[in-house]
Amino acid sequence: MSTKYKNLSDIIISPNTTIGNSVETINKNGVRGVFVCDEDRELLGVVMDSDIRRAILSNFDVNASVKTIMKDTPFFIDSNLPLSERKELLIKSNKMLAPVVDVQKRVIDFIYLVDILEELFEKRNVPGADGEGKSILPPGKVLVIGGAGYIGLVLVDKLHRMGYKVRILDLLLYGEGVLHNFQNDNIEFIRGDCRDEETTRLALEGVDAVVHLGEIVGDPACSINEDFTIETNYMATHKITEQCVKQNINRFIFASSCSVYGQNDKEIDENSETNPVSLYARCKIESEKAILSCVYNRFSPTILRLATVHGMSQRQRFDLVVNFLTIKALAEKKIQVFGGSQWRPFIHVDDVCHGIIAVLHSESKKVGNQVFNLGDSRENYQLARVGEIIKSHVSGTELEILEDKVDERSYRVSFEKIKQRLDFSAEYNISDSVKSFVHAYQEKNQFRDYKDKEYHNVLSFKVG
Ligand SMILES: NC(=O)c1ccc[n+]([C@@H]2O[C@H](COP(=O)([O-])OP(=O)(O)OC[C@H]3O[C@@H](n4cnc5c(N)ncnc54)[C@H](O)[C@@H]3O)[C@@H](O)[C@H]2O)c1
Repeated sequence: MSTKYKNLSDIIISPNTTIGNSVETINKNGVRGVFVCDEDRELLGVVMDSDIRRAILSNFDVNASVKTIMKDTPFFIDSNLPLSERKELLIKSNKMLAPVVDVQKRVIDFIYLVDILEELFEKRNVPGADGEGKSILPPGKVLVIGGAGYIGLVLVDKLHRMGYKVRILDLLLYGEGVLHNFQNDNIEFIRGDCRDEETTRLALEGVDAVVHLGEIVGDPACSINEDFTIETNYMATHKITEQCVKQNINRFIFASSCSVYGQNDKEIDENSETNPVSLYARCKIESEKAILSCVYNRFSPTILRLATVHGMSQRQRFDLVVNFLTIKALAEKKIQVFGGSQWRPFIHVDDVCHGIIAVLHSESKKVGNQVFNLGDSRENYQLARVGEIIKSHVSGTELEILEDKVDERSYRVSFEKIKQRLDFSAEYNISDSVKSFVHAYQEKNQFRDYKDKEYHNVLSFKVG
């Protein structure tokens, strides 16, 4: 049972192949993996694209032998079995790709799950291609992974008010204080870890679309435990994507970040080269690649590269630049900006949610397999200007620009694609967020505890 597109020889590599060269082979063969075999085609190991991307993120030398990362006791299928049983075994194994081996353990064929999915869905009476391409409208059911987070809670509230059924999968890394938001019949909450395949499988059951926001967010938080970050921010995303394909969930929205552009002097659009300067951004890029390489005709993922978010949420974050500087201005009457000339794009948290909803509302032929920067070209600011805006709304604030301590990241982003294709533009700007914090702090006496760890992702990971 070979795939329609490729020959077995395109999937076999020698143990002397480098990690770098095996990436090229996988990119060309389109089945997301390779079998490592000796000269007689005896199976020595299997390497999937997820193994390679994880190795790249963990700074493995791409010139090292692929043997250093292959699974040397891989799952395989016995060639003595009839075709129908081989297929059943692959489906039960939860793998995407499996070698078929003879008694001498030589690889003589392979099975790729994508090739047998249509047949499988037909057998199980899963609705066919007719359902493809439609918008996801209320009362459709949306799974929001990370739905208890800063963006997640605002999104869940909006989806619920619009009449969607919402399921949340979240580990509640930042505490249980948000649980009261889910006391509603149309909001289902699962406390669980999206790295766990069984948890994810159950969470995906019966949903029409997935919005994936469940990660370790921000450069400092990601650098505390790099292995944990890679497992959460890359490996889990990769597995969730594959699980969506297996469960015939075709609409998948991934929250990436404009930080993939890193340091870049020109105005950047979706086709510009990426230039990540942190593990957080590198995980975003590898996740994007994994999602977009999941080529299956029903699967229509959308990547949204979010500008830096600001504004109020039921799970407040004060580790985001606008929110942080505003609360500092309110509490301490003094703010410091490092550098000041760097460009950054910003977006209000409500507008992020409007953008996600605009994607759900669009037919998949418009948004499927697409990358969009999510923001508004008018909302690119130099950081010194952000300081000035905050100062103008918080009387008595002293603004200090520290030119010697520069944060290198600078990028000015074009949001024309999302404007043209989805008619998206931002409703709010930085001043709107600053004013809402001023009101909350001064009139309602809120956020006096803004230094508490629940508001700062990195502090929640630090022991003590
Ligand atoms: N806030 C921003 O400025 C911004 C900018 C660009 C992209 N993004 C992206 O948007 C998404 C949401 O960001 P946010 O600001 O809401 O962050 P957040 O930290 O407030 O939310 C993340 C949520 O994911 C949950 N989570 C983490 N690991 C999990 C796991 N293994 N299983 C289940 N749940 C898990 C956390 O408990 C948390 O509730 C992230 O993917 C982030 O990278 C955010």
